[in-house]
Amino acid sequence: MKLGFIGSGFISKFHADAIQQVRGLEIGGILRRGGAEDLASYCQKKGLGDAVLYNNIIEMAKNVDVLAIYAPNYVRIEIMEEIIDAVKAGAQLKGVICEKPLGRNMVESGKLVQLAEDANLLTAYFENQIFMKAINNQRQQLSAIQRKMGPLSLTRCSEEHAGPHKDWFWDPIRLGGGVLSDMGCHSIAVARYALTPEGKDLFFLKPQSVMAEVGLLKWGQPQWRDKLKSERGIDYLKTPAEDFVTGIITYRNPDTGQLVKSQFTNSWIFEKQGLRLFMDGMGPGYAFEVNTLESPLNIFVGDDAAETIADQEKALEKATASRGLLAIQYNEADLYGYTDENQDMFKSFSVGKDGFLNWKYGLEITKLVMACYLSAERKKTIDLSDPAILQELETYIPAIQQGKGVDQLF
Ligand SMILES: NC(=O)c1ccc[n+]([C@@H]2O[C@H](COP(=O)([O-])OP(=O)(O)OC[C@H]3O[C@@H](n4cnc5c(N)ncnc54)[C@H](O)[C@@H]3O)[C@@H](O)[C@H]2O)c1
Repeated sequence: MKLGFIGSGFISKFHADAIQQVRGLEIGGILRRGGAEDLASYCQKKGLGDAVLYNNIIEMAKNVDVLAIYAPNYVRIEIMEEIIDAVKAGAQLKGVICEKPLGRNMVESGKLVQLAEDANLLTAYFENQIFMKAINNQRQQLSAIQRKMGPLSLTRCSEEHAGPHKDWFWDPIRLGGGVLSDMGCHSIAVARYALTPEGKDLFFLKPQSVMAEVGLLKWGQPQWRDKLKSERGIDYLKTPAEDFVTGIITYRNPDTGQLVKSQFTNSWIFEKQGLRLFMDGMGPGYAFEVNTLESPLNIFVGDDAAETIADQEKALEKATASRGLLAIQYNEADLYGYTDENQDMFKSFSVGKDGFLNWKYGLEITKLVMACYLSAERKKTIDLSDPAILQELETYIPAIQQGKGVDQLF
């Protein structure tokens, strides 16, 4: 199966490393745009496929089986419209992949679902954390215990680092908000998945209510705001985004009526070694815990030796230090679930099925993220069993996403 990459930045490189670990999948093409030449030669060197550079999506679509949207959030719709044009022009595509978040709001996510459906394309929504081996292994290990003791009643998930790598992530309009939009979507999804009882589908637990708070704890302070303005060209005095979010989503188990909760926390103010994904869950008489900063390999680098280190991210995604005791993750693509999500897409599309997570699932996650923004904006719990609220969420655009977050965040 030949993939065509639309986007050749940070996540595309991760997927290239993941594909190296998946049999049957190759990178057939990459859209020629900033950084594409480097990624193409990396893929060719690693034997990951021809990685031919194409000037436009229509040309690439003729020569690959699946297109993968790995471009920024604010260009999803225009890219998908080009893909539809390619299909109309005769491209024989099996399906499309889209990175998280599907859209910046429900209007966009809904439109993407509709466009894919109209063009009869299979879809895969890439939410890697649901594919993490640690998350799925704990489910397998605990399945017999769950059946005997009862399912989990609480999960707590977080993803945190010191801040994104590209300017557009910091701009609430282009991103779709701040850290809630960018990383809340991960933690909300994986927390619900981990809470879902064995053998039940992704939509089994029924969302009842959402309570969330956002804050601008670091990057709104004068010295950090100035840094953002001079280095990224983003002015948080005018268009701020949240750098911290926490919230609780309550679900009802429709078989038993039991209320269960998932709590999530995300931040761009995490001052430890680098990216940390933390997940835990509590069931009656059992529990699980995942912490990606715990590694079997620790390396110590003293001050004198540190002078020679050129790339601190060689140790770990978003690493901010190059000395002291470093946690090393040598196969991050696999650790974070990218390998398994590519494998799932390959197997599913090969037999004419959507990925385990399709774009309708991506839309569902957008709905929960929007409910969190609404809760934070109104400073109240949002009732997701209220049809009027559900209807409001369909067209709701958070103030922060509109670039009007000053009153809320300062
Ligand atoms: N799953 C994860 O943990 C994870 C991590 C990082 C990023 N992402 C997601 O991946 C997507 C891309 O993020 P990134 O970090 O790779 O960003 P990036 O800025 O590093 O790379 C974006 C790429 O898209 C290209 N691009 C820009 N505008 C385009 C357009 N109009 N048409 C086609 N290509 C265009 C750029 O040239 C660049 O190659 C985002 O939606 C982000 O949310 C997911």
